[in-house]
Amino acid sequence: MRSVRSFRDQVKDPELKRQVAGFIGQEALHGREHRAFNDRLAELGFPTKQVERIIKKVIAIRERLLSPKSNLAATAAYEHFTATLAELLLTSEEARALFGHEEVKNLFLWHALEESEHKAVAFDVYKAVGGSERMRVVTMKLLRLTFVLGIAVQVTAALLLDRATYRRGNLRRSWRRLRRSPVVNRKVWDQLREYDRPDFHPDDRDTTALVERWRVELFGEHGTLNDKLTGATDRADGHLDVLIVGPGRASALSSRTASNSTQ
Ligand SMILES: [Fe+2]
Ligand SMILES: [Fe+2]
Repeated sequence: MRSVRSFRDQVKDPELKRQVAGFIGQEALHGREHRAFNDRLAELGFPTKQVERIIKKVIAIRERLLSPKSNLAATAAYEHFTATLAELLLTSEEARALFGHEEVKNLFLWHALEESEHKAVAFDVYKAVGGSERMRVVTMKLLRLTFVLGIAVQVTAALLLDRATYRRGNLRRSWRRLRRSPVVNRKVWDQLREYDRPDFHPDDRDTTALVERWRVELFGEHGTLNDKLTGATDRADGHLDVLIVGPGRASALSSRTASNSTQ
């Protein structure tokens, strides 16, 4: 979010300018609600605070070492990660079934919807300020590699620290479940790699209908998450709404910000 904001003044196109405002609003609320969620997990004994601290440090180092443009390239690449996972969640019943708790699923569905809506914004800003194709693709390749390595380290650490791992047969059963997982599979990996294609654009995958369907499902007239809103009425189609929903929260929206006609 910071990396997009730092280029805000260089964006001349009024349409993209509005989208940037929507992007910043949506991401600010994602951050807030996920922090609230992590706080609750910490209360339940999960080490979310420690993980948050490590991630914050890594991002701070990256921001200091790299140029603003390559930080923006990283954001554009991460947005492709979130858009890919968002599309998976919005299209796969099986993926949605992985959430054990209804409110946690709702939090992630809301987030997925907005990630799909604004998936091209950071990318378009990167292009608008003259970001090169080479830097875009190299950044993605590096991030994909560090992402896989990072997950491998985290999973190994979690397994080693969990007593259940050492019970007979548990590891084998987990491995079998992992291989059938809708999240860890070839299709998701291939979709992540689409980003490397020359002249790739996030809107090459048209998710307009998917976004529209879920917006109605979650926030339409009979939307399942309407009770989480105390505002956001008069939501015209084609707008990036900034909605606040979250676990146990019935708080409201800030503003309807950006028109989103490129979707
Ligand atoms: Fe987000
Ligand atoms: Fe995002």
